[in-house]
Amino acid sequence: MKATAIAPSNVAFIKYWGRKNEVLRLPTNGSISMNLSSLLTTTTVEFSSNLQQDAVEINGQLFAPDSAEARRVTSHLERVRQQAGLRYSARVVSENNFPASTGLSSSASGFAALTVAAAAAAGLNLSEKELSILARQGSGSACRSIPDGFVEWLDGDTDESSFSMSLHPHTHWQLVDVVAVVSREKKEVGSSQGQLAAASSPFFSVRLSRLLEKLSRARALLKQRNFTDLGELIEAEAVEMHAIMLTSTPSLMYWLPATVKIMRLIRKWRSEGLEVYFSVNTGQDVHLICRPDDVETLTGRLRDLPEVSNLIINTPAPGTRLAEQHLF
Ligand code: DP6
Repeated sequence: MKATAIAPSNVAFIKYWGRKNEVLRLPTNGSISMNLSSLLTTTTVEFSSNLQQDAVEINGQLFAPDSAEARRVTSHLERVRQQAGLRYSARVVSENNFPASTGLSSSASGFAALTVAAAAAAGLNLSEKELSILARQGSGSACRSIPDGFVEWLDGDTDESSFSMSLHPHTHWQLVDVVAVVSREKKEVGSSQGQLAAASSPFFSVRLSRLLEKLSRARALLKQRNFTDLGELIEAEAVEMHAIMLTSTPSLMYWLPATVKIMRLIRKWRSEGLEVYFSVNTGQDVHLICRPDDVETLTGRLRDLPEVSNLIINTPAPGTRLAEQHLF
């Protein structure tokens, strides 16, 4: 009753920001993303009759059962136990190879890995679609980390119709996402809480009215491997999401001065011929999308910035998979 899974994080080209159903965690709109090869969570889950309660350890830290972190994991295990008709408690050990809560979407890889490991440990034999539905209930963006490569999450109107599927395998296109880590400070408002404010922005309805068209444009550009047009779309979409965040009640500002500095530099470098586009999520770190040939120039310039503490180079990655080697 023990299993281990490895899950990639993902970066959304079209973002998930706002929910139409809190209980089922249904997003207001569909989204499109790319799995990231170097932002990984490994999680081992073991159900055992010897345990009195779930024990949750993340990055070497054992969380008290009543902590927010442990409760979110236990609620997710509860969904798996219910599907499997299982009563045992579980030990969960999880490790990220990157810092959590700085906007690098650890909840995406975290809940994707937890879903696949827990389902296997409980003896459930679920399809990719079923795993994606389950992962979505833990954290929305996690459902996009289940399938391979370039992924679309269909918003859906019911539990069964809100899931992710691969648009193209990770081998479809050699894009690179260089993540510039600008700080290890934890953000003040997590995504789950921030999402609740989205609909209060007066611009949210304007955003939604254009979203279906945006999604189909992103799908087409991805299929054609049109780097320039997709890059412009990715950057404009990130800025639009932050416009919603800034104009919601409460107003959310995830950028730090270093985030803004990098965004401005990217536009300057682009005007000088280095073709790179940025995206930012709920945190200060910046995703920089470029072609393989430009990685060296880009990383060379970023390393010269005193604000950049680390660079993580990602290529498109497969989805969540089971692993042989357990963490305990
Ligand atoms: C800005 O998936 O972390 O990264 O469902 O509440 O766990 P919850 O939210 P989460 O939100 C991700 C927000 C985002 C955009 C995106 O990845 O699409």
